[in-house]
Amino acid sequence: MLYQWAAEVLKAYVPLEVEQLMELLEIPPSASMGDMAFPCFILAKQFKKAPQAAAKDIADAFSHPYVQAEAAGPYINLKFDRQHYGSLMMNELTTGNVPETGNGIKVVIDMSSPNIAKPFGIGHLRSTMIGAALYNMYKLAGYDVLSVNHLGDWGTQFGKQIAAYKRWGNDQALSENPIQESLQLYVRFHDEAVQDNTLEQEARDWFRKLEEGDEEARKLWAYFVEVSMKEFDRMYERLGVHFDYTLGESFYNDKMQAVVDTLKEQGLLEESDGALVVRLDEEGMPPCLIIKKDGTTIYPTRDLATAIYRHDVMQADRLLYVVGSEQRLHFGQVFTVLRRMGMAWADSCTHVPFGLMKFEGKKMSTRRGKIVVLEDVLDEAVARAMDIINEKNPELDNKQQVANAVGIGAIIFGDLKNNRVNEVDFSLEDALNFDGETGPYIQYTYARTQSVLAKGDALQAENDKAADMLASGDVLGDSGWELLKLLTKFPEQLQRGIRNNEPSALARYALDVAQSFNQFYNKERIVTDESSTRHARLRLTRLAGLSLTRTMHLLGLQTPDRM
Ligand code: ARG
Repeated sequence: MLYQWAAEVLKAYVPLEVEQLMELLEIPPSASMGDMAFPCFILAKQFKKAPQAAAKDIADAFSHPYVQAEAAGPYINLKFDRQHYGSLMMNELTTGNVPETGNGIKVVIDMSSPNIAKPFGIGHLRSTMIGAALYNMYKLAGYDVLSVNHLGDWGTQFGKQIAAYKRWGNDQALSENPIQESLQLYVRFHDEAVQDNTLEQEARDWFRKLEEGDEEARKLWAYFVEVSMKEFDRMYERLGVHFDYTLGESFYNDKMQAVVDTLKEQGLLEESDGALVVRLDEEGMPPCLIIKKDGTTIYPTRDLATAIYRHDVMQADRLLYVVGSEQRLHFGQVFTVLRRMGMAWADSCTHVPFGLMKFEGKKMSTRRGKIVVLEDVLDEAVARAMDIINEKNPELDNKQQVANAVGIGAIIFGDLKNNRVNEVDFSLEDALNFDGETGPYIQYTYARTQSVLAKGDALQAENDKAADMLASGDVLGDSGWELLKLLTKFPEQLQRGIRNNEPSALARYALDVAQSFNQFYNKERIVTDESSTRHARLRLTRLAGLSLTRTMHLLGLQTPDRM
């Protein structure tokens, strides 16, 4: 907003278009210098003058009823009239509209995608949280978004799973503790396969039967999927995440032959050691495996069929894959093979990678059953949140609900505040620090806005809308003015987050808003006796609260009114 206004004002003095001006405008390093700064270097040539002199000339000629200009070296600093622009900003913010840049472009987001019969890993947690935030961000900006949970429910490991179950399976244990029990079967399979070489063959036979649609194999497989899904759904429920589609790898079982046929027709398939591959030497990548030696399909084959389905049937304009960085090569190969098949739209496929997350220095590993169980982490976070609440506000109503919001929120925010490609060493204690750069800090600040408003509303007997509309920017104080300007930057941050597929742009923004509100709260008396000042400050408080909830909801956090 301010960029636009500054550019429009400057246009009368500078031979540049509004868009160009907006590109060049800067925020001055210190608020006391002004609200916007225009660097005059670009004018030196046109005016045949040093930038300092150009800045001085413009400042001398400048005249505007609501803007002051001052030359400072090669810069022109602009100051906006707080009364005039303050109420304009507040009115704009009250409508809360976000420019719709998505134009209904269809985006399919591949997210979460855990593996059946294996624990929900930390990578899947990150994918779920990052994916859900991106989903909300795209949606708000007017894209047509679909989320897909691409379950790992196919592959040779299901042959192993069935073989192990047939030998040692225990139905009761499996229904009581599906993931643990499945995992144990899997581990036992690997242990015993060292001695017993019939096991591997049995597993291969079962997977082949499964791919051929054998009834018993299908039934057992469906059973594994069902019990695992029950566990995953519990997790999704706690995280508040939903999917438009849950279509696992198995869904593409009958769609892979067509891909293999096309690859053959196009002469892209080559034999290598009895397997069929697409060579990617030219692209400097290892060959992409399509059909294994034993004739079964593999992960990349299924991803090829999946991408084609999303493009052709779901009509996706863009395909995002929120999957850990360790699969960079895999997606590089898959997208390249698509391109080789003549599918130019492969360029609209994007792998959205993210780094490893450790919990208190511990890696999550599914091997040998030595794992940090995600549900335990969530429980622990909620329990610790409850301890903090009991200490800070023991009288609070619905404590359990608030503890859930704070505990889960701490985990989500502790992840999303980081640049996604960075590794995260997650510490529950840090994530729950009410004074740190955390979800709870922002939630607490939001609750503060609500308690200020409750106090204020009690004072304003008649909730005076007219006075509200007259609220002006010049009684907010410097800190209030800075907060107000910051609030207008939401659309910009949203765009940046979408452009880079980076929820941290919004997480960082929420932190800035919370910090800025707390400064305002500490410096200015919000609920003062003078009514027009009170109105303006309460209105700013309301707008800050709206900004905080909106941003937190995008990221997947709840914002309780009290805590
Ligand atoms: N299930 C896979 C894993 O856990 C992730 C799937 C990601 N999505 C995809 N389309 N390949 O590694």
